[in-house]
Amino acid sequence: MTQTILVTGGAGFIGANFVLTWLQQADVDAKIINLDKLTYAGNMENLVALKDDARHVFVQGDIGDKNLVTELLTKYQPTAIINFAAESHVDRSIHGPEDFIETNIVGTFHLLESVRSYWNLLTEIAQQQFRFLHVSTDEVYGSLAVEEPAFTETHTYEPNSPYSASKASSDHLVRAYHHTYGIPVLTTNCSNNYGAYQFPEKLIPLVIANALADKDLPIYGDGQQIRDWLYVVDHCTAINQVLAAGTVGATYNIGGWNEMANIDIVHTICDLLDTKRPRTDGKSYREQITYVTDRLGHDRRYAIDASKIERELGWKPAETFNTGIQKTVQWYLDNSAWVANVQSGAYREWLDKNYSART
Ligand code: NAD
Ligand code: TYD
Repeated sequence: MTQTILVTGGAGFIGANFVLTWLQQADVDAKIINLDKLTYAGNMENLVALKDDARHVFVQGDIGDKNLVTELLTKYQPTAIINFAAESHVDRSIHGPEDFIETNIVGTFHLLESVRSYWNLLTEIAQQQFRFLHVSTDEVYGSLAVEEPAFTETHTYEPNSPYSASKASSDHLVRAYHHTYGIPVLTTNCSNNYGAYQFPEKLIPLVIANALADKDLPIYGDGQQIRDWLYVVDHCTAINQVLAAGTVGATYNIGGWNEMANIDIVHTICDLLDTKRPRTDGKSYREQITYVTDRLGHDRRYAIDASKIERELGWKPAETFNTGIQKTVQWYLDNSAWVANVQSGAYREWLDKNYSART
């Protein structure tokens, strides 16, 4: 059977990695419909390798546009939808929460409504086979103290930022559409991703780009905040696994078993760059580290317990942080044109907005 899936947000960081890896293993008749609004975070350059691949159909549009989504669902009859589309950056949600409410909550609601109308008209067999997979975050669970156990799927929702609150709302809507209407949904809550094509507003690509541009490496607060880091390709294989074998209605936490403090992440990147692209003055990139005013409401620690997905679906990450960060740093070194092209005027305005008032 020909497999057709609809991916939203597939020109962004994780979505593009997913589209690229999915097509690598898909057969010649497969199709992936990629619906993306192309906000500042969406980038067609991420998909340039697919420009001659007829299996990839790109559509610029909003997940909240019910007419467009209904038209796509009717035309292509996808057997699964993977919803990556979102506003995704915590700092931007602090400066301006409205877009987060609009896309992450209202947009997801409209998307679910379009899916509900489509799903209701499918045959019983097609209804059973259909999946709506919603990609969410560990940030919905709130912040952990250092001694607390990692988040399991049953941890209470305690979102602390406008971003995580908007993602939590979308998770609840997805859950309700399963419970109330019977839509076969799956939800994944993953930790911090890193890898190729990540927009340099997030910590890892920002630090690499700033280091190479001889700029400060800004560490919020004391740099001791802990995140779990997941290599993006591992995340994509986990999503495929959940799609193929996950229990309908269930949630799966996806993590890299890689808890690290921010300052240790930045030290690791500096040390790698010192070897791969030494500074001309012979000093270490660590000299560029600058402690700056903390993020408002900064969550101290996130940690994912990914044992359910390993136990039930046999997935575990293939990369350690060591191997994943080597590949990532190398990718940014090899793709300086990609980095230069995303550093537009709007990007520089963002840097000014987020960093100039920090002391
Ligand atoms: P991203 O910001 O890099 O990309 C988001 C993509 O969604 C962009 O291509 C953008 O154009 C598109 N988009 C935004 N609003 C849209 C709309 N209304 N309609 C259609 N497309 C729209 O984000 P990412 O890092 O790739 O994250 C993807 C998903 O994974 C998000 O849902 C995010 O919450 C979740 N997530 C990300 C991380 C991470 O570390 N990056 C961690 C946990 C969860
Ligand atoms: P980020 O990549 O924005 O992801 P998230 O906020 O979703 O975890 O930030 C990762 C961590 O790095 C977070 O604790 C905030 C911190 N951080 C800095 O210290 N400096 C920076 O310039 C940025 C962007 C983040």
